[in-house]
Amino acid sequence: GTTLGASAAERGRYFGTAIAGSRLSDSQYSTIANREFNMITAENEMKPDATEPNQGQFSFGSGDQIVNWAISNGKRVRGHTLAWYSQQPGWMQRMEGSSLRQAMLNHVTKVVTNYRGKIYAWDVANEAFADGSSGARRDSNLQRTGNDWIEAAFRAARSADPDAKLCYNDYNTDNWSHAKTQAVYRMVQDFKSRGVPIDCVGFQAHFNSGNPVPSNYHTTLQNFADLGVDVQITELDIEGSGSSQADQYRGIVQACQAVSRCTGITVWGVRDSDSWRASGTPLLFNGNGQKKAAYDAVLAQL
Ligand code: XIL
Repeated sequence: GTTLGASAAERGRYFGTAIAGSRLSDSQYSTIANREFNMITAENEMKPDATEPNQGQFSFGSGDQIVNWAISNGKRVRGHTLAWYSQQPGWMQRMEGSSLRQAMLNHVTKVVTNYRGKIYAWDVANEAFADGSSGARRDSNLQRTGNDWIEAAFRAARSADPDAKLCYNDYNTDNWSHAKTQAVYRMVQDFKSRGVPIDCVGFQAHFNSGNPVPSNYHTTLQNFADLGVDVQITELDIEGSGSSQADQYRGIVQACQAVSRCTGITVWGVRDSDSWRASGTPLLFNGNGQKKAAYDAVLAQL
């Protein structure tokens, strides 16, 4: 194929990007996005602060803009994200205990219901594990409602849209030897053994010199897949430039391709100038919309 999405599709996979709704009016941005990618994630517009700004008052306009753009251009959508410690609306940040649990489950139900039939996979729970060597859950108001908050969210999501794949999504889970990776693995193993409805694990894959692409990435993806879930690379960006960056991007594509249940890769933005990273050049297109060496490496590998 001559584009990322078409090339991935030839192998039964997808290649996606995060989209910021406010940038869709930039024709350079929307032209590249439409041409190259066949899976879309809303960068911020489907997060809890965007979709339920006041308790019980849902706001789907910004998310709908992106979902409608994607579907009308023949693309699928990853839903991001339902239950997260961050980017909660203020009212939710101030809640705790059983009222928070109930509000979270209502949020999951209402948002998934609104987008029912339009979402390929939902990031049901995002970033629920702590960094470092503890292997513990991340402390948050959601975690303090009880350790079963994640499985409760997955069950609510399944009820609201039985056809969407339901993912757990996190970062720093790429290196198989890290405690956080092992802890997420054990949770997924437990969910599968008890029939909690989980279908996929998302690996954010935000890489930089302090958090490089691990040499055992393929092992990590394969071990999770062997639990009976799909794996997806959901927010890929790699700090750097030139051939070094290109080699790392190629390695990620190779690792995914080596795992039959690795269903696709999403990069977290289109051009370097669109990246959430304050500085640096972590994406596949430069600020002028030109293809970088990393793009060429990915396309050649797909
Ligand atoms: C980021 C967005 O890119 C930024 O625009 C926003 O200010 C903060 O969130 N992990 C995630 C994503 O799951 O939702 C985050 O996106 C990046 C880290």
